[in-house]
Amino acid sequence: MSKRLSLTRLRRMKADGEPIVALTAYDYSFARAVDAAGIDLVLVGDSLGMVVQGHAGTMPVTVAEMAYHTRCVARGLSRAYLMVDLPFLSDYDERSALESAAVLIKEGGADMVKVEATAEQAPIVAALSRAGVPVCAHFGLRPQRVGQLGGYRVQGRGDDGAAQLCEDARALEAAGADMLLVECVSAKAARAVQAQCQTPLIGIGAGSDCDGQILVLQDMLGITPGQPPSFSHDFMADAGTIPGALSAYAEAVRARRFPGPEHGFD
Ligand code: KIV
Repeated sequence: MSKRLSLTRLRRMKADGEPIVALTAYDYSFARAVDAAGIDLVLVGDSLGMVVQGHAGTMPVTVAEMAYHTRCVARGLSRAYLMVDLPFLSDYDERSALESAAVLIKEGGADMVKVEATAEQAPIVAALSRAGVPVCAHFGLRPQRVGQLGGYRVQGRGDDGAAQLCEDARALEAAGADMLLVECVSAKAARAVQAQCQTPLIGIGAGSDCDGQILVLQDMLGITPGQPPSFSHDFMADAGTIPGALSAYAEAVRARRFPGPEHGFD
């Protein structure tokens, strides 16, 4: 019988107040290392466009490339739940989202797909959910929209910003999202979403109050070229080895020592 974590288990972790530890991975060797460190949820993120392929953003990444990396990661996991991104424009309507999800789940071996969405994309989430696809809705800063947003900017600032994020969360859950992921938002807005949401809420650059935390692997190992995001932390600097850094991250999230106030936004 599979010992892989299920969505039911992740929901129970939320109910029990047990932090969910999540991390990206893109290949077999790192998937094994991440799994061995006890990471609960692994994301094959379209951040691979930057950290693996060397592009300036996530927009060039294709479904075929996501499927390839998902297959590599799936072979390395024996415990963690596996989520994969639907890349830019692979989910522009219900049909394309269903076709892309079919490839990533059937050929890639993913447990869940992640879509970047606000309330406006709730029909896409609903179509996936109706078809039986477990879905995570990624809102707040949506890297696939940085062209429209005018850069990587903190979202959800002020009362109106927080109210908008709460409304997005409500609409996405009502559409059938099984999980929410919120990126680069004010800690106050993330707290407001956390207080109302029924599904596990994973945060990145969203303060310490979410049900779980995720980082990009290369950022937390300190090997991302250029300036790392201010909400990340280089766990390798103290640990000195990859297994040590991965375990230190998992322990810090479980003990609610990471993220600290210095990793969040007002
Ligand atoms: O693609 C990715 O790595 C992500 C994380 C930033 C959550 O979506």
